[in-house]
Amino acid sequence: MLKIEGLSVNYGSLRALADVDLDVHDQGVLHGIIGPNGAGKSTLLDAACGRRRPTAGLVRYRGEDITKRSVAWRRRNGMSRSFQRTSIFPDLTVREQLELVAAHLGDDRLDDIIRLMDLGSYLDQQAGRIAYGVQRRVDVALALLGRPNILLMDEPGAGLSAVETLRLFEHLRELVSEQKIVAVVVEHDVEAVFACCGMVTVLDLGRHLATGTPAEIRKDSRVIAAYLGSAA
Ligand SMILES: Nc1ncnc2c1ncn2[C@@H]1O[C@H](COP(=O)(O)OP(=O)(O)OP(=O)(O)O)[C@@H](O)[C@H]1O
Ligand SMILES: [Mg+2]
Repeated sequence: MLKIEGLSVNYGSLRALADVDLDVHDQGVLHGIIGPNGAGKSTLLDAACGRRRPTAGLVRYRGEDITKRSVAWRRRNGMSRSFQRTSIFPDLTVREQLELVAAHLGDDRLDDIIRLMDLGSYLDQQAGRIAYGVQRRVDVALALLGRPNILLMDEPGAGLSAVETLRLFEHLRELVSEQKIVAVVVEHDVEAVFACCGMVTVLDLGRHLATGTPAEIRKDSRVIAAYLGSAA
């Protein structure tokens, strides 16, 4: 579904990603991406969704080379992205924002998405005033509009407690499995990732360190040395 080949991204003289390969193909399974700060996780999502043109390498979607396609083309063709910082408009109500984006993308399944993300009791509240954990769910709901085939999420658990993050990840796991979506999720909370992701990729200093099941990643000596340390 999503195949990244030899991807490099430079910011001026800084090499944020160096020759990264990634193959995400399992529908209905969360694919986690972990790694230290500055490892290039957000940059990888930016390159996948078209916000950042790679210096070298290819992004393939359903077999097609889409490296030069725009963000808008990718969104129309089923690639959706949520952000590390919440992207909601604080003054609109939850309902207003969801309706705005649903109308824009011609999606008539708003009620389904409200149910899936458990937002029914917040619809008439101003988005900026609801609890942060609920805002993150609104963010994911916005990314789900337009019937994406691929959902790319950047730290949906940012700013949440460990318990809230785990709850959100359990929610995402169910949703992705129910909707048969291909989902990539960047997250710092490795316990939530290990508990809910079927596959995990580890980046370190812009390089691909390992991809495997949570059990494989936990015992990978390079991952332990670079990232997990004694926490594993
Ligand atoms: N717009 C930019 N201009 C210049 N350098 C950037 C830019 N965005 C990111 N970088 C640098 O590129 C590297 C990778 O950053 P990136 O944000 O992809 O890492 P990350 O793994 O998402 O980190 P974090 O866990 O902190 O979110 C870092 O060294 C970062 O400082
Ligand atoms: Mg990041």
